[in-house]
Amino acid sequence: MNPDRTLPGDWYPGRVPENVLLDPTAYLETSYSFLLFTSRQPGAIEIGPGSSLYLGVMFDLGANARFKVGSYVLMNGARIICDSEITIGDYSLISWNVVLMDTYRLSLEPLRRRTELEQVPARSPRRTCAGAPARPIHIGQNVWIGFDSCVLPGVSIGQGAVIGARSVVTTDVAPYAVAAGNPARVIRQLDPGERNTAGGSRRSEVKGQKPQTGPPITEQ
Ligand SMILES: CC(C)(COP(=O)(O)OP(=O)(O)OC[C@H]1O[C@@H](n2cnc3c(N)ncnc32)[C@H](O)[C@@H]1OP(=O)(O)O)[C@@H](O)C(=O)NCCC(=O)NCCS
Repeated sequence: MNPDRTLPGDWYPGRVPENVLLDPTAYLETSYSFLLFTSRQPGAIEIGPGSSLYLGVMFDLGANARFKVGSYVLMNGARIICDSEITIGDYSLISWNVVLMDTYRLSLEPLRRRTELEQVPARSPRRTCAGAPARPIHIGQNVWIGFDSCVLPGVSIGQGAVIGARSVVTTDVAPYAVAAGNPARVIRQLDPGERNTAGGSRRSEVKGQKPQTGPPITEQ
């Protein structure tokens, strides 16, 4: 980040808000990501060392929201809809078009939604603000969330878990589980070999490829 809080090479003429803590080794592609950012919390967003957040990541954070990203996290085009708290652990991978939402923002009751929508034209900026309840989302270390997935309010995803593409995650996912579908269901658990090596997947062993070893994942 430049001293005036612009981003190097940014195509959008914006600045990183003062209450965003961006580690010097983290990468944020564009300040356009803050278009919907309204949090007034000190340190509302923390982005840890070595993390990379690419084009299309949108921080749709309400006034009291906090969003924390650990180290070496990679996010591509994810939408963060947050009114309470969302955390993402180190080494997690959030694929394109993932939505993490800790609130539905609107009421399930048709009449309340109608009243809310009637108020939007008079607001500046022209948005909803119905004050719907929010429940934090926690994503552990080394989690991989496949593209087009959605994680709903109150969900925790344990470390090392994998979420299949186009899943809707409505309940907690245990560590090292592979969950997929709508609603997401556990389709299997990673076996011990898959948990402790990088690249040593069951599938590559089936194809006769030698699994690559990596640093062990720290159990928590
Ligand atoms: C979840 C995933 C990792 C599972 O891989 P896997 O362990 O090799 O699982 P398999 O392909 O053997 O499938 C196991 C079962 O789960 C089902 N399944 C797999 N992925 C699914 C998904 N995304 N949604 C719904 N069902 C899924 C399969 O149909 C199969 O069902 P069956 O046992 O009834 O036949 C993989 O399917 C996936 O979705 N990867 C997403 C990758 C991605 O988003 N990459 C973006 C780049 S970062």
